[in-house]
Amino acid sequence: MLTGKRIVLGVTGGIAAYKTVELCRLFVKSGAQVRVIMTEASKRFVTPLTFQTVSGHAVYDDLFSAATRYSVEHIGLAKEADLFIIAPATANCIGKIAGGIADDLLTTSVMAACSPVLLVPAMNVRMYENPVTQGNLNKLVSLGYHFVPPAEGDLVCGDTGRGRMADVQDIYTAAAALLSAGTRWQGKNFLITAGPTREALDPVRYLTNHSSGKMGYALARAAVEQGADVTLISGPVNLSHPPGVRVISVTTASEMYQAVLAAYPKADVVIKAAAVTDYRPASISGQKIKKTTDDMTISLVKNPDILAELGKRKEKQILVGFAAETTDVFENAADKLSRKNLDMIVANDLTEPGAGFTSDTNIVRLIFKTGQDKQLPLMSKQDVAQRILDEIWLIYSAKQKE
Ligand code: PMT
Repeated sequence: MLTGKRIVLGVTGGIAAYKTVELCRLFVKSGAQVRVIMTEASKRFVTPLTFQTVSGHAVYDDLFSAATRYSVEHIGLAKEADLFIIAPATANCIGKIAGGIADDLLTTSVMAACSPVLLVPAMNVRMYENPVTQGNLNKLVSLGYHFVPPAEGDLVCGDTGRGRMADVQDIYTAAAALLSAGTRWQGKNFLITAGPTREALDPVRYLTNHSSGKMGYALARAAVEQGADVTLISGPVNLSHPPGVRVISVTTASEMYQAVLAAYPKADVVIKAAAVTDYRPASISGQKIKKTTDDMTISLVKNPDILAELGKRKEKQILVGFAAETTDVFENAADKLSRKNLDMIVANDLTEPGAGFTSDTNIVRLIFKTGQDKQLPLMSKQDVAQRILDEIWLIYSAKQKE
């Protein structure tokens, strides 16, 4: 699966380093060329000989011992890699990368990396939750670094919580997804909706919501970067059109309904990130409504539920919805997943800082038709989009095998 791919695998000093040996073996077994860089501390946990044996190549561990060779090598390794992974990535290593410190071969190489960088944090729960570590992670997320978040459970140090290195298989999947990202959706049609809809009351006023369109536009960008043919049906937003994406601009929920249904038969994947206005005024005044009374009642009628309609008409499509909730987030989102016949729903908890409308970040929980769910940490909307597409790829791959 990874034949010909060049992976640089950085190992830092954490107990989880022993699991990285298995990760290295999985990459090699899949046909990847793996070059391992070890920090001094990591060699206290696993010997270079172990990685040398598993990768089939000498381990790189010293910036200075063979200055001529390495001065070329660390830039060369970084330049030629298709993917740079650090697993485990300790709090110290993450802090150094976030702070621009390059004081050993690994941090020097990662600073010179041209490929995507995938960090796999593993540390004590209090170190992970420390605001300094969280600040560093957020900074790196905003700079486009990729992460496989740590798992929750019993930690080797005796504490319980989030900090354990993710399962090797999950790291492998994330790496494979990044490595195949450029082409995996070639020839496939994506239909994505974004932004709010707007329902006029009179020529100057309307009902709408706070959606900026950022989440849907991030999805469109990510899908087109992965080779998909993307149609983006967008409500009124102040964002520039992502290059390579066919954008259809609409204003009202009814217009979105018409545009989505027309594009639906061709679609392989549909992602409905738009925040559709559920109700519209029963009638639109032709003239500006005058304030002649102290109070006013506006009669509203229900808009069509576009996603529910798609769910009814579903054939080959993978259907993904979003749910923006303020209470009982999981239950409400899971209910929409089954009512609308979806494969996955992305639940936003609007009460969480950094999640939902307008921000550049989001915190989402992915809930699947299978009953499984995955909580993602605070990430940029672009990274959330990437993770959503990775999950859709897994759903798509599983469907191909049915
Ligand atoms: O645009 P941003 O500022 O980046 O913010 C992102 C977001 C919060 C808007 C987005 O991530 C999100 O959560 N979008 C869905 C918000 C919402 O309206 O959810 P809902 O629970 O009302 O709807 C559930 C699903 O049904 C959604 O996929 C929605 O597109 C769809 N729907 C809803 C009503 C309707 N009449 N037709 C629909 O298709």
